[in-house]
Amino acid sequence: MVLLRSSIFALVLVGLVNAALVKRQAITPLSSSQMASFAPFTHFASTAYCNSSTSINWSCGSNCEANPDFQPMASGGDGDGTQFWYVGFSPSQNTVVVAHQGTATSKLLPILIDIDLILEPLDSPLFPGVPSSVKVHDGFALEQASTAPKILFYVQQTLSVHGTSSVTVVGHSLGAALSLLDGLYLRFHLNATVNVQVIGYGMPRVGNEAFADWVDAHLGGQVTHINNRRDPVPILPPRLLGFHHASGEVHITDSGTWESCPGQDNPSVECTVGDVPSIFNSKESDHSGPYGSISMDC
Ligand SMILES: *[C@@H]1O[C@H](CO)[C@@H](O)[C@H](O)[C@H]1NC(C)=O
Ligand SMILES: *[C@@H]1O[C@H](CO)[C@@H](O)[C@H](O)[C@H]1NC(C)=O
Ligand SMILES: *[C@@H]1O[C@H](CO)[C@@H](O)[C@H](O)[C@H]1NC(C)=O
Repeated sequence: MVLLRSSIFALVLVGLVNAALVKRQAITPLSSSQMASFAPFTHFASTAYCNSSTSINWSCGSNCEANPDFQPMASGGDGDGTQFWYVGFSPSQNTVVVAHQGTATSKLLPILIDIDLILEPLDSPLFPGVPSSVKVHDGFALEQASTAPKILFYVQQTLSVHGTSSVTVVGHSLGAALSLLDGLYLRFHLNATVNVQVIGYGMPRVGNEAFADWVDAHLGGQVTHINNRRDPVPILPPRLLGFHHASGEVHITDSGTWESCPGQDNPSVECTVGDVPSIFNSKESDHSGPYGSISMDC
């Protein structure tokens, strides 16, 4: 009886501690220096939109010239079946950068609200040991798989040429979804001593709740997905269809504050789920930015 009472007491105590922890995970605004630290990566994400007919055009506009010390290593894709991508080294950020181009909102939205959307198991040799409960959008998985081995090859080469141990995968829109999958993939195929982080802009939901948990388990604290104001893309595909965001949201509010939103799909009105309850409350033009002062184009 005494034992029972003390274990009930312990349970209550654990409950209180958990409640306190949840409470303490407040929504907090980023400082101006934290916001500014994203700018080089926002430029890297926008640069993936700078293409000639066959490859990235490294001198096509102010966004792609905003990181003048960047050393491109490889690029690929065709902007049609496969989004353009590139790999290179940033001396000032001391990191290998991998970037994926996004797609026009008018092309992406019909894909994200398609009622026949399929969540497929991520049972690919690219992701060793992935539980069968982990499911992702089949189109995102197919495209990521098609460029993965090449990207891994060039990332390994860039890591060894420059003697760095950091990889940052960036992208906007569809490019953000591909970057999340690439970040996970690289985490499994690079030495554990290499730090892998993902910075996505206007990222759609990529998979189900088991996927979100799996991302948090392997890349926890290394994923940031930045959502601008009332952009519809981050609330798609809908949770009703079983899609779920991993942790790491930063939400840009109407006043231009960047709020760090703890947890997965934080329901607060300061975060996307609360601020944009449905696509009818959304604003399509917010998808391209500005993220800070930077818009997602060349
Ligand atoms: C970028 O690529 C797309 C798709 O291949 C193409 O339609 C477009 O013309 C390209 N842009 C330039 C400036 O060549
Ligand atoms: C790159 O973009 C610039 C500016 O738009 C253009 O003048 C140049 O011809 C492009 N280069 C290639 C290889 O397409
Ligand atoms: C990982 O990196 C460490 C430190 O550079 C090295 O000692 C180790 O052999 C590497 N492991 C693999 C599997 O390459």
